Amino acid sequence: MIGELMPETVVCAEAFEDRDEEALFPEERRVLGQAVERRRREFTTVRACARQALAGLGLPPAPVLPGVRNTPQWPTGVVGSMTHCDGYRAAALARASDVTAVGIDAEPDGPLRPGVLESIALPRELAWARTASPVPVHRDRLLFSAKECVYKAWFPMMRSELDFEDAEITFSQAAGPGPGAHGAFHARILRPARNSLGQQVGSFSGRWSARRGLLVTAIVLAAPS
Ligand SMILES: CC(C)(COP(=O)(O)OP(=O)(O)OC[C@H]1O[C@@H](n2cnc3c(N)ncnc32)[C@H](O)[C@@H]1OP(=O)(O)O)[C@@H](O)C(=O)NCCC(=O)NCCS
Repeated sequence: MIGELMPETVVCAEAFEDRDEEALFPEERRVLGQAVERRRREFTTVRACARQALAGLGLPPAPVLPGVRNTPQWPTGVVGSMTHCDGYRAAALARASDVTAVGIDAEPDGPLRPGVLESIALPRELAWARTASPVPVHRDRLLFSAKECVYKAWFPMMRSELDFEDAEITFSQAAGPGPGAHGAFHARILRPARNSLGQQVGSFSGRWSARRGLLVTAIVLAAPS
């Protein structure tokens, strides 16, 4: 699902079931510690996806450890993002020469718990999310996923926090081809900043897709030419 949302410069790998006995690096095992079974499964399978994507970039396997604020630490010259939710794990990686930032997020396509929408949405987003969708997707969950996706693209690049009220998302959507729904979104950053490459980051363009009971969102910021 996630690969369909990406340009050719981004290599994706995804799993709908956990892979048994995937090898973790010793340092990854240490990070996992005594984590519960659910966490062990998502951690292990998403790292298998990451190594598959690294191979797709022509790079050898490497450990993927959490860094500042749990940001995944990629080999030098690589940018990427990972996501996991029930029934889905994915990694999306690219060469830093092609792409400055990637964010991906996956969620079950179901309603948010009561009160969550009101805590993450700006007034215009709230009005949109409360309007019936002409295509099969839970708008409140889609908004949440797009905001998580924005954060995952933002934080590793900027190394600064971004709150839910700091990005305003607008969506476009289309039905088909094929089952489910898909479309694009635009994230306007309400407190824009410059990244270390000198790019002013004031917005992101993203894409989304919903099917198989899942929804996925993706953002790619191309490197300056
Ligand atoms: C970091 C955050 C976005 C992760 O969301 P989540 O739904 O738990 O994430 P997923 O399960 O889809 O993905 C988890 C992966 O995200 C990645 N991740 C974690 N922290 C990250 C960060 N600060 N930056 C980028 N990626 C991060 C990790 O790879 C993690 O997998 P791992 O723990 O196995 O390494 C969320 O916990 C969070 O802090 N949200 C608040 C900030 C926010 O969303 N602001 C909105 C801005 S508009």
